[in-house]
Amino acid sequence: MWQNSYIYDGKISDVLCERYQLDRQGEEQAISDQIEELLAGRHVLELGCGAGGLTESIAKVAASVLAIDNSPELLAVAVQKELLPDTVEFRYGDLDILSNTNRIFDAALVNFWFSHLSKNTTAQFLRKLHSHLSPGAIVFIVDHIYLPEAGDRLFNQPGKTDTFKVREFGDGIKQQIVRNYYDADKLRNIFALRTSQLKIQVGNCFWWVNYRPI
Ligand SMILES: C[S@@+](CC[C@H](N)C(=O)[O-])C[C@H]1O[C@@H](n2cnc3c(N)ncnc32)[C@H](O)[C@@H]1O
Repeated sequence: MWQNSYIYDGKISDVLCERYQLDRQGEEQAISDQIEELLAGRHVLELGCGAGGLTESIAKVAASVLAIDNSPELLAVAVQKELLPDTVEFRYGDLDILSNTNRIFDAALVNFWFSHLSKNTTAQFLRKLHSHLSPGAIVFIVDHIYLPEAGDRLFNQPGKTDTFKVREFGDGIKQQIVRNYYDADKLRNIFALRTSQLKIQVGNCFWWVNYRPI
């Protein structure tokens, strides 16, 4: 079972636990099962692995996992999990760390990261992600559904298509961060381009998509 989905959003987690517990658990289980089934035996590129909660699960079924994150603090937690050293590698940085390598993967996993991506850059991001994947590779992307009850207050900024929310960091500093939510139609608009076998699932707590880049 997937333990660390809410490492970043503890406040949302509590509210979801109260009101959406059954949905949440059911969807987490469905997502987790699909990820394990689709990524089994594959060489997985995981972007934004955070503290490695999901990395731990996929390491059990994948041939290998390169898990990347640009937070040294979260990566340090991930590394402490001491996952199979022959199978799992944690690296600090973003997708650019792969630009001078020939390393190619046959699966990509992006878990609770896509909603922080500016809408202007989704196409560019997907092109870059796909450039590190072999033909027939599978991409699995998961993120949250907008739940106003969860206290996630969204803001617009003049001239921008993104929505933003305020995140308070441990030291009390508040910062506006990008937080974009998508429904099934918007997800189709984003992912239908240059993909095949696109599957979009939208639950009450999460959306998840998988497809093959073409
Ligand atoms: C909401 S967390 C999700 C973490 C993890 N996937 C999970 O489900 O628990 C988003 C993660 O993406 C990382 N991140 C944000 N921008 C990134 C980037 N450009 N490259 C790599 N990681 C990034 C953050 O440090 C954070 O760990």
